[in-house]
Amino acid sequence: MSARVVLLAAGKGTRMRSKLPKLLHPLGGSPMVLHALQAALDATATRPLLVVGHGAEAMRQTVGERADFVEQAEQLGTGHAVLQARAALQGGADLVLVSNADLPLLSAATLKLLLETQQANPGPFSMLTLRQPNARGFGRVQRGAGGNVVAIIEEAEATPEELAIDELNVGAYCFRADWLWPALEKLTPSANKGEYYLTDLLEIATAAGERVEAVVLQDPQEAIGVNTREHLAEAEAALRQRINRHWMLTGVTLVDPASTYIEPGVTIGQDTVIWPNTILQGDTHIGEDCHIGPNTVVRHSRIGNACRVEAAVVEMAVMENHVDIGPFAHLRKDSHLGDHVHMGNFGEVKNSTLGPGSKMGHFSYIGDATIGANVNIGAGTITANYDGENKNKTVIEDDVFIGSDTMLVAPLHIGQGARTGAGAVVTKDVPARTVVVGIPARAIRKLEEPD
Ligand code: UD1
Ligand code: CA
Repeated sequence: MSARVVLLAAGKGTRMRSKLPKLLHPLGGSPMVLHALQAALDATATRPLLVVGHGAEAMRQTVGERADFVEQAEQLGTGHAVLQARAALQGGADLVLVSNADLPLLSAATLKLLLETQQANPGPFSMLTLRQPNARGFGRVQRGAGGNVVAIIEEAEATPEELAIDELNVGAYCFRADWLWPALEKLTPSANKGEYYLTDLLEIATAAGERVEAVVLQDPQEAIGVNTREHLAEAEAALRQRINRHWMLTGVTLVDPASTYIEPGVTIGQDTVIWPNTILQGDTHIGEDCHIGPNTVVRHSRIGNACRVEAAVVEMAVMENHVDIGPFAHLRKDSHLGDHVHMGNFGEVKNSTLGPGSKMGHFSYIGDATIGANVNIGAGTITANYDGENKNKTVIEDDVFIGSDTMLVAPLHIGQGARTGAGAVVTKDVPARTVVVGIPARAIRKLEEPD
């Protein structure tokens, strides 16, 4: 039986009190809607259909090719939202899996279970429920004398006795398509909100003597629905816990999971230790036996094995193996530190390569530079790479010694084994094994070839 997923994402998300559409608020570093889309894709291996309305243009831009779109021009309720998908789906899929897109932690496995349950159910649909005393505004699920689910009562319409029911409607359903479309036509506006509630389909089925199956969700975290920013923080914490647990089980030490933030796309090697207040974001990959943190942000970067990164910000950079940076180091876009590079406190590197074994211990800025192996960069060294119009390149060959407080005025080339004196302002290229000093720097002697 073929199945398609319809994700409902047209609502405004009024309770977020935000200019941004609710489903574009980030969760674990990516817009909430993408979490739901990924689960849908993983569950069915087909592209989901996204019902958009409020903020449709922004949603389309963010989602791009990951979904097909249907527009719900006016947000008249979840039942009305599903109806908008009819033209796109009728005559196509045998089963229609409908899920609220504001359930970002609902797993592909749960969606699959719902699908399988309906495949075995002769009745019109199956739905997901959860037993939990704290209702968080969810619809209450009523069971009949025989134990079958018979009605969903929305909180806005519930009597005090109904409010006390502790079985909740999670907001995911799998319908037989041939039943769904005509049934949606039968919905009438709700008494209090005037919306067409998808949830009224349960009563419609019950009235026709049809049997609806309920899958009871075991993990309440999966059912965290995001209506408010408080819920968003709850979802964030749950997602983080899930990710942290995974890495600890894989052999990574998180000294303080509560202050460790690892986004879903990140990978970490065995026996790496993550210290408190560390944030690992985006397309970041860390090798084995590293010490990362405390107080560190790594974003879209690759860190090799046995590296140490302390109180640093690393962005779109590469560190090979045994690299040691910080405290208070900043690697910016396109920095590449070779094996055994040491970068101490208050250093900044941008769009530059430091070859193996090179060292910059203190207070330096290296921008748009290519630096060879075993170069010593003295305290306070600056590449003056910007002349007000252009960014100019500095090239420093292997085994160069740059004295403290040297200004390297680019474009500049410093030959192998050369030295600059403390406080030199180097404005002209320096030949190999030449010592330059002063302002502007001039050559004072030539060094012997090493044996
Ligand atoms: C809904 C369910 C409730 C369930 C809860 C849990 C209904 C009537 N109620 O309530 O039983 O316990 O979810 O997740 O379905 N949307 C549209 N178009 C609309 C209205 C909503 O696309 O006209 C989308 C929203 O963007 C959202 C989803 O449908 O992603 C659910 O809407 P929301 O208003 O959050 O419903 P709840 O009040 O949470
Ligand atoms: Ca909701």
